[in-house]
Amino acid sequence: MPQTLTAVGLTTGRAPFVEEARNRGELYIQQAYELYSEENHEAWRQLYRRIQPRWERYANDHFLKGVEALQLPADRVPRLSEINRLLQPLTCFQTKPVSGYVPGFLFFDCLRRREFPTTITIRPADRMDYLPEPDIFHDVAGHVPMHTERAFAETLVRFGDCAHTAVEITSAIRDEQERTRRLTNIIKAMSRFFWFTVEFGLMRGSKGICAYGSGLLSSYGELEHAIESQEVQRHPLQMEWVINQGAEIDHYQPLLFIIDSFDHLFELVDRLERWMRDGRLDNVAPGLPEIDESNLRSFLDAA
Ligand SMILES: [Fe+2]
Repeated sequence: MPQTLTAVGLTTGRAPFVEEARNRGELYIQQAYELYSEENHEAWRQLYRRIQPRWERYANDHFLKGVEALQLPADRVPRLSEINRLLQPLTCFQTKPVSGYVPGFLFFDCLRRREFPTTITIRPADRMDYLPEPDIFHDVAGHVPMHTERAFAETLVRFGDCAHTAVEITSAIRDEQERTRRLTNIIKAMSRFFWFTVEFGLMRGSKGICAYGSGLLSSYGELEHAIESQEVQRHPLQMEWVINQGAEIDHYQPLLFIIDSFDHLFELVDRLERWMRDGRLDNVAPGLPEIDESNLRSFLDAA
């Protein structure tokens, strides 16, 4: 039987539709919903069915309301157009399909325009538990329900403002080496702050400590581990600590930070920007994440 495009699917790491777009240099693409294979829908079904009871237990209330408000389907990969139709009236946020990695400045600038770069591929059925790169389950089931919440959505927009501030401050530095050094430190501080909040944040809520970070909310294993395990340190978020703390990427996070509310998170991003202006992000501790050339270049080019 000839292999049809439908059978090829939109599986992470083996999706010709996405790879071809990337080879053509196209970052923003269409979802091409008809390309999802039955295996892709089955992967979504299994991921959703498995994690749903853990959301009830460990996710913050705003996230659960968001899942409901967006009518996230349990039985198939969601259509981004359907999500957008329900999301847009709430906070003006939209998902925006992308072909892969979005360099730092472009990513934050999308947030500023209330667009969330969204991966369309889904992990293979035999890699349910860990995938180093984001997939649509991480992006749509982990991130997007949070975008229905007003203060959280405004916080993402403020991250976008911070990226513009970083460009504004560093583009005034004449010495190229010094400009690159300062920018690298600022991007590292911003990335760490984003990592320990939007990706892996914990919050005090009606049922005690709960998760709002998408890396936790899209991981069946880590969601429970983050809240229950005695191996995890959980501390109130302190700016000095977060911007100097290396992020660990290939195993469960041993250290997580707690916020009180999304208004609190918004204030913290305000403070991050003030610290940036005061030069307090210019010399953060070395360590992960590495700031790669395309990430740095996206900020330099924005100037
Ligand atoms: Fe993420």
